[in-house]
Amino acid sequence: MSIIELNHINVNFKNSQKESIPAIKDVSLKIPTGQIFGIIGYSGAGKSTLVRTINLLQRPTSGSVLFNQTELTNLKPAALRQARQKIGMIFQHFNLMDSMTVRENILLPLQETTLTPPQKAAKVDVLLNQVNLTDLADQYPRQLSGGQKQRVAIARALVNDPDILISDEATSALDPKTTYQILQLLKELNAKYHLTIVLITHELEVVTALAQNVAIMAAGEIIETGPTQQIFNNPQTSFTQELIQYSKINPAWEVTDV
Ligand SMILES: Nc1ncnc2c1ncn2[C@@H]1O[C@H](COP(=O)(O)OP(=O)(O)OP(=O)(O)O)[C@@H](O)[C@H]1O
Ligand SMILES: [Mg+2]
Repeated sequence: MSIIELNHINVNFKNSQKESIPAIKDVSLKIPTGQIFGIIGYSGAGKSTLVRTINLLQRPTSGSVLFNQTELTNLKPAALRQARQKIGMIFQHFNLMDSMTVRENILLPLQETTLTPPQKAAKVDVLLNQVNLTDLADQYPRQLSGGQKQRVAIARALVNDPDILISDEATSALDPKTTYQILQLLKELNAKYHLTIVLITHELEVVTALAQNVAIMAAGEIIETGPTQQIFNNPQTSFTQELIQYSKINPAWEVTDV
């Protein structure tokens, strides 16, 4: 079963001369329910643009987006808003509201729901506990470390009980230890709640540590996809070979003296 099915997605942007520039070129992709699915590629490959089509933050120029068998591109605004509640998203720069406390930030996506205030508060308490931030509930984002901010963002993304969490370079701004803790949390959420996670990264070690399947992106296309171990043990494209060659998990990787 696939929770997400992208079929023949194209995204074109207009440049300053009003010329159409393709950012995503005929991408088809199935994301299996309950998995951690990695998308890896260099900067500018189109990773963010592609995953933003999953919740139609970016409308594709053409192609179809199925979420739990529902075609999202045909939905009316109210139905799309409802579907989007089931797609959580976290980003490199956290995107928290600076003027709101941790608790208020997590509460924010519940505004559109019919829950009573005590029900909302109870929900936030459960999540605070889950991401280990109960003691910091009344702090403001500026009082938090990067890892703590990302945990607030994760709690906020989970507050509507999404079926899928999209993580767009969510650990890129964090140090290695904090990265490890956030990845550990994502892995726990996947194992405990069968939460499907799409993990966008340019760090190979993040994908190999967590993802069962991976798609390799370059220049707006998926050039290789399959089980992570298989792809990295036996890369079929020179691009993937290069990606592995320059990754930190390659023991041969070292900067030569100059
Ligand atoms: N709103 C936009 N308008 C015009 N061009 C855009 C827009 N968003 C992205 N692009 C272009 O589309 C291409 C893909 O960008 P995208 O942000 O998806 O890459 P990425 O793989 O996420 O890169 P990074 O690893 O740096 O985040 C780039 O060439 C970028 O300049
Ligand atoms: Mg990006």
